[in-house]
Parts: sequence; C-alpha cells; structure tokens
Amino acid sequence: MGEGGIAILPAAPVRIRNRDVEYPYRQDSDFYYVTGFDEPEAVAVLVPKRKRGEFVLFCRERDPEMELWNGIRSGLEGACKDYGADDAFPIGDIDDILPGLLENQPRVYYAMGYYPEFDQRMIGWVNRVRTRSRAGVSSPGEFVALDNVIHEMRLVKSKAELRAMTRAVQISSDAHLRAMAMCRPGMTEYQVEAELSYAFKRSGSRRPAYPSIVAGGANACVLHYTDNNDTLRDGDLLLIDAGAEYDYYASDITRTFPVNGRFSKAQRALYEVVLEAQQAAIEQVKPGNHWNAPHEAAVEVLAEGLVALGLMKGSAKNIIKKERYRKFYVHRTGHWLGMDVHDVGDYKIGGEWRVLEPGMVMTVEPGLYVGSGDKQVARKWWNIGIRIEDDVLVTRDGHKVLTSAVPKAVDEIEAVVGSG
Ligand code: GLY
Ligand code: MN
Ligand code: MN
Repeated sequence: MGEGGIAILPAAPVRIRNRDVEYPYRQDSDFYYVTGFDEPEAVAVLVPKRKRGEFVLFCRERDPEMELWNGIRSGLEGACKDYGADDAFPIGDIDDILPGLLENQPRVYYAMGYYPEFDQRMIGWVNRVRTRSRAGVSSPGEFVALDNVIHEMRLVKSKAELRAMTRAVQISSDAHLRAMAMCRPGMTEYQVEAELSYAFKRSGSRRPAYPSIVAGGANACVLHYTDNNDTLRDGDLLLIDAGAEYDYYASDITRTFPVNGRFSKAQRALYEVVLEAQQAAIEQVKPGNHWNAPHEAAVEVLAEGLVALGLMKGSAKNIIKKERYRKFYVHRTGHWLGMDVHDVGDYKIGGEWRVLEPGMVMTVEPGLYVGSGDKQVARKWWNIGIRIEDDVLVTRDGHKVLTSAVPKAVDEIEAVVGSG
C-alpha cells in the first residue's frame, strides 16, 4: 500500500438458514488471510504509519450473557493480545470512529460488491467525511480494488499455507482411500459420502471445501452432481470428487473406480486415456510454463484417445482445432487451489496466459463424459463419466503432486476397492 492510504476489510456476515437457525459460519477468505480472526461482526482496518497503531480491529466486545448462549468471544483485549491488532474498538462504535480514520486519506483500498450491505455503509462513511470539507478535511480521491492486491498475494503460498494445504490433502487422501475400500454394489451414494464425511471430521477438518460429489454410473456425467442419493450398481463406475478444508485451506481430489472392483474392457480403455492425459498435463506443471500448457497437453492426449477408440472420426489435430473434443470434455483442466477451492488469482496477465511460479498450487483434472442416446457413439461407451484430479504445487524445479497417496493406476485401484 505504501503510505497515504487506508484498507478496509469486513468479516463475512452471518446468514440465516431458516428461522432461528444460521448457516454454519465461515469467515471470508480474504479477511481470514489478513487477520486470522474467525468471528463474525468484525472489520479490519489497515492504516500505514498511523501513530496509534497500523492494524485496527473492530469486533464484538466480551459479553457474559451472550457468551453463555453462543460461546466465548475474543473481545477487544483478545483482538490485540491474540490477533496482533494494535488497537481494537467495539463494532458498535464503528459509525463514530471510521469516518475519522478516512479523513485526509488520499486512497481507500476496498473490495466492492461482495457484501452489498457493507458497500452501503462504506458510502455513508465516505459521505460523512465529505460533509467536513468546509472544515478543511479532505475526502478520499482514489478507490483501489483491495481484492486484486490480496489475491495476488494469496496466489503464491507461504510455508505456513503449504503446511495447512498438506494437512487438508492428507485428510482427503485418507478419506478417498476409505471410501474406495468400503464401496460395495448395492450401497447408496450417500452412504459412501458418509464415509468421506466421517473421515474428514475425525481428522480435524471442520467442513468439506465444497459439497462432495459421489456419482455412480450416468450421474458422473453431471459435472457438479451433488444429489448423492442413487444406488450403486454392479458394473458401474463411481466418480468421487471430494476434498476436506483444513484451517481454511482446501483440497480437491477426484477418483473414478469400478463399484465392483473390476474395470470392464470399455471402462478401462476410456480410463487409461484420461489417466494418460492427466499425466501429460502434470508433466507441464513447472516454472516458466504458462497456465494453459497442462490443458493443451491433456486435450492432445484426449483427442488422440477418442480417435484411437473410435469415439470420434477425423484427425486429432482437427478435433482440437475445431474444439470437437468438447462433445466429451467441456470443462478446463484445472484451477488455482488455496483458501477457496476455485482459488483467486488472475489466469491471464495483459491478455497472455500467466506464467507458473514456485508456490502456486493448481488442480489437474481432465475427464471424459459420454452420455447416452447418441447413435454415433457405440453403446458400450454410454453413461461412462471419468475424471481424475490431483492437487499440484509448482516447485523451483518442476512440481510436486500433493495428492499422490490416492491410487489412480488401474491395478492399484482394483486392489483397494471393496477391500475394507
Ligand atoms: N470440485 C470442483 C472442482 O473440481 O473444480
Ligand atoms: Mn477441481
Ligand atoms: Mn474437484
């Protein structure tokens, strides 16, 4: 920020689920990144060179009666002692104090549009400063998108962040292994989901990073299937896309395996194309390569595989050029991963794909999804949906697959499924 500016970040609001029940509270990722403070009703203010302290935290005061109902609060003292605030004020006093902090600041760093109610309050505070112009007070002349600044920081992970991500990945890997081992024909998708949830919670993950996808047979062709209420049939594949969140960091793993523990010939043929595409994509993850290199590598293998298996006619080159592979592969090969499962950070800089740097974490997740009913496609391929997804860290000399503990080779998978 340099000098001469003020940054303002609100905590995530509490949301009502129904009547007296709230959704489980999760702090805003940017707010948590900056403060480590996980209570609602808080506002962090950063004022470089402020004499009485640069980090100001507005938060709830201690309140024995409220704490009896809802649990302990940090209070103003805890904000300073435990969270490193230089100065803390009651959140109820913010209307009186914040306009004063805005006075004579040339720049305001603020992420507009995420919390509309807070946007309105910001406008009110800025207007309060404007009314003091005849007293010689100057109001902010520049508004800078704080999200852009923080998101560039979040894109490159620190050692502490990688420790949290490694833990999230370990918990998820154990959960996937457990789900594979417990899987049997005749179980429901939600029963397999229960194994994942149990494994997450038991290891200290308080919530999944996103709703778990447990999709048997044709359901795997629905990319964000979350009904998870079908019965798993002998002879079908099961696609599980699930990742734990640990200390606000996400993991994101997909494995696809046969419900009965044995790939059919067609399932195996298609699976091996996706696996080869994934391995080719992972090879492209290294510093200096651009963001899209893994996707391009994956698409090349997928297109060649579709031709070799007779699912598509023509040359792989033409299929890629005309994007005809999109009939079986509509999504992209990955995304940034961090505090949010689809994490922040630009994918293009100045119109060009971004160059990978050590400390960035991304997913690599190609797939093939063959629906039913298309007469051009032989019946044996119908209703097969496959995705294989790993979390990959860009390192100084290449990459590290963080999720390598979960089997993905055909023989390794067949050895685990149904063994528990
Ligand atoms: N689980 C969502 C995704 O893989 O992007
Ligand atoms: Mn993903
Ligand atoms: Mn996923």
